[in-house]
Amino acid sequence: MGVPCRVTSLALLWVSHLLLLPAAHRATNPRIITFPGGEQRFPFNTSDGHVVLYHEENTTSVYIGAVDKLYYYNFETSANHTESFAAKNTEMSCGNHVPAKNYLTLLEKYEDKLLICGTNDCNPTCWNWVDQKKVPSIDGQGLAPFGLDPNAHVLIDGKDIYSTIKKHLYNGRIPRFRRIRGSAELYTSDNAMRNPQFVKAAVVKQDQPYNDKIYYFFREDNLDWLKNTGALMNVSRVAQLCKGDKGGIGSLSAAKWTTFLKATLLCFDPATDRHFNRLQDVFIVESDTWSETKVYGLFLNEWDYSAVCVYSVGDMARLFQTSPLKGYRAELPTVRPGQCIEGNHTPQETFRVAESHPELEHKMKQQDILFHSKHHYQKIGVHQVQAADGSTHNVLFLATDKGTIHKVAELLDGTMNILEIQPFGQRAVIKAMTLDNVKNELFVASTSEVVRLPMAMCGAYKDDCESCVLARDPYCGWSNGKCTSVYARDELRNGTLLQALTHEVPSNVCASSDHSNAKENDCEAVMVAPSSRYYLNCSVESHHADHAWVHRNRSIHCGAGHRNCTYFIDEMTDQLYGNYSCVSQEGPFKRVLVTVCLVKPPEFSFRDALGPTPNGWATSASLSFWLGLLQMGTVFLLIQ
Ligand SMILES: *[C@@H]1O[C@H](CO)[C@@H](O)[C@H](O)[C@H]1NC(C)=O
Ligand SMILES: *[C@@H]1O[C@H](CO)[C@@H](O)[C@H](O)[C@H]1NC(C)=O
Ligand SMILES: *[C@@H]1O[C@H](CO)[C@@H](O)[C@H](O)[C@H]1NC(C)=O
Ligand SMILES: *[C@@H]1O[C@H](CO)[C@@H](O)[C@H](O)[C@H]1NC(C)=O
Ligand SMILES: *[C@@H]1O[C@H](CO)[C@@H](O)[C@H](O)[C@H]1NC(C)=O
Ligand SMILES: *[C@@H]1O[C@H](CO)[C@@H](O)[C@H](O)[C@H]1NC(C)=O
Ligand SMILES: *[C@@H]1O[C@H](CO)[C@@H](O)[C@H](O)[C@H]1NC(C)=O
Ligand SMILES: *[C@@H]1O[C@H](CO)[C@@H](O)[C@H](O)[C@H]1NC(C)=O
Ligand SMILES: *[C@@H]1O[C@H](CO)[C@@H](O)[C@H](O)[C@H]1NC(C)=O
Repeated sequence: MGVPCRVTSLALLWVSHLLLLPAAHRATNPRIITFPGGEQRFPFNTSDGHVVLYHEENTTSVYIGAVDKLYYYNFETSANHTESFAAKNTEMSCGNHVPAKNYLTLLEKYEDKLLICGTNDCNPTCWNWVDQKKVPSIDGQGLAPFGLDPNAHVLIDGKDIYSTIKKHLYNGRIPRFRRIRGSAELYTSDNAMRNPQFVKAAVVKQDQPYNDKIYYFFREDNLDWLKNTGALMNVSRVAQLCKGDKGGIGSLSAAKWTTFLKATLLCFDPATDRHFNRLQDVFIVESDTWSETKVYGLFLNEWDYSAVCVYSVGDMARLFQTSPLKGYRAELPTVRPGQCIEGNHTPQETFRVAESHPELEHKMKQQDILFHSKHHYQKIGVHQVQAADGSTHNVLFLATDKGTIHKVAELLDGTMNILEIQPFGQRAVIKAMTLDNVKNELFVASTSEVVRLPMAMCGAYKDDCESCVLARDPYCGWSNGKCTSVYARDELRNGTLLQALTHEVPSNVCASSDHSNAKENDCEAVMVAPSSRYYLNCSVESHHADHAWVHRNRSIHCGAGHRNCTYFIDEMTDQLYGNYSCVSQEGPFKRVLVTVCLVKPPEFSFRDALGPTPNGWATSASLSFWLGLLQMGTVFLLIQ
């Protein structure tokens, strides 16, 4: 449990060169910090790389569904439990002669009990978890797939369960979005979607219950592509359904959704006209006012660069209410397609139009594009934190394809990528990520461990006022000589928390007594022989700062595109001896990170330079020379 978790601030500098976004998005050179503690981990073993994670908010425990096994762990008490859910060999096996396996694919609360469903060797089955024991539960049909299926999604809302999982092994070739429990069963018409790949579904309650909606997000084949090769092959969509849909009138449509409509979901940067077409993940940030509920969409482009676009549910509902239907020219029926009707069925004529023209002519544009970057993000979570001044900031947790998490804050003047977190002891793919918005914690699982992290990781920043404030982390502020979490504020009753949650930070943000420049006087003495070469390097610390080596008032600028600030002395001369300080400057903030004093060896003589090196310094100088040369080569390549 003591394995440190590494936190790195970000290397997005190359990105900001490539993608022109507002300065607000400029981020950062990496710094590598050992995570100061606060994370806890539970190791487990899975054989097939399959993991689902369940954590109920405001609790301290997690459940992990794997292959043939359920793991339970309580981070507070260390209580743990492993339960076998091994499939017994049945006749089923989906016709394959493979060992029977039970992939647990669904762990959710349903009717106040934990519902666990798995493939159970091609025989989808559900159990409940009661008193640390598994007991039989509802029929697994539609709740778990027959075999592992990335397109299997289940949404539980009160008594209602919605699912994209087919119910029978040998039919139901067309993927559908169904209501399988609660109110009467419904499924989408065959015409509704083409080869859909589902991403996420959510229920959005409105002011009147009859108007409650289901939104689901998916990608599908683009029919336009067949007619127009300039069109995209696949498109991202949002579909809207009325939760109170009663199905059609007449036996042919009685079990069909009658309120289905879909719209293309766009995510683009208007400044550069870059489009991000492939929806990857969705996170819903609920609001007390339904129309202000926000949908955060994580998109990729054809190079797997990422963008995050935000949509308001109010805009979405309006689009579905007002857009013409694509390809439909006649007058719309009085009850508009997609309209929810209180206590009654959708009129037949309305359904006929909706079923034959399920797509809106207008596209759903984002309200805002938060950023785009070169990173390949795979999952998104959003948390709202109240900063010291009471303002609310949204913080994005984005899982990368490298097994790390980027913490990106929405500041007053744009987003900023503030931290890279490496949650696992060893690099591993992030299989699942869950946010606890009550306890302000993050749960992340790989195939071999689950980690609990506090969202406020103020120990990642140096304990000096400027480092803490310039981090712009809405969770952290400077208080009583420490970089402190906003959640610790209650404990320091009389303490105020100093923060600056903007890109531009006023120069007097920290009182002068808070300045720390301890490094300025420490000098790392290095003996360098005349005429030899030397290589100075300085590990870049702050993300948004400029760095330079300063020698006798001369500032030697080092490119900001590479990790370290380096300076290569080709041939040592008398003028080049002396103190070199690596200075970082961000706006008015200036800090000395390290000082190196290059001194001439007193006993140096010409003979020594030719002969062997008794003191050892020449060897190290030449080592650093070769390393330097190597680095210069790298830098050169990077600049190219
Ligand atoms: C995981 O499996 C390895 C080898 O199969 C074993 O040594 C280790 O103890 C297991 N760990 C746990 C937590 O079960
Ligand atoms: C979280 O749990 C605590 C203790 O059980 C309880 O007092 C509190 O009301 C809960 N908070 C929420 C938001 O459910
Ligand atoms: C699991 O529980 C056992 C006691 O049942 C305990 O000894 C062990 O430390 C626990 N494992 C972890 C990782 O906390
Ligand atoms: C479109 O989707 C299909 C699967 O439906 C996938 O195989 C293909 O790679 C996708 N094409 C693009 C350009 O994303
Ligand atoms: C509160 O203020 C008092 C005196 O002003 C100080 O001694 C004490 O350390 C402060 N407490 C905290 C938690 O900051
Ligand atoms: C270099 O730094 C050392 C240690 O801080 C100091 O004693 C010395 O005076 C400095 N030399 C110059 C030329 O500034
Ligand atoms: C950079 O300098 C540090 C000391 O500040 C040293 O440990 C490291 O090896 C140097 N790196 C290279 C590539 O020379
Ligand atoms: C940057 O400097 C740090 C320490 O100063 C060193 O560990 C690291 O290897 C350097 N990185 C490069 C790319 O030179
Ligand atoms: C550095 O520059 C300042 C002002 O530009 C000057 O006062 C000071 O004497 C200079 N110091 C050295 C060592 O040249």
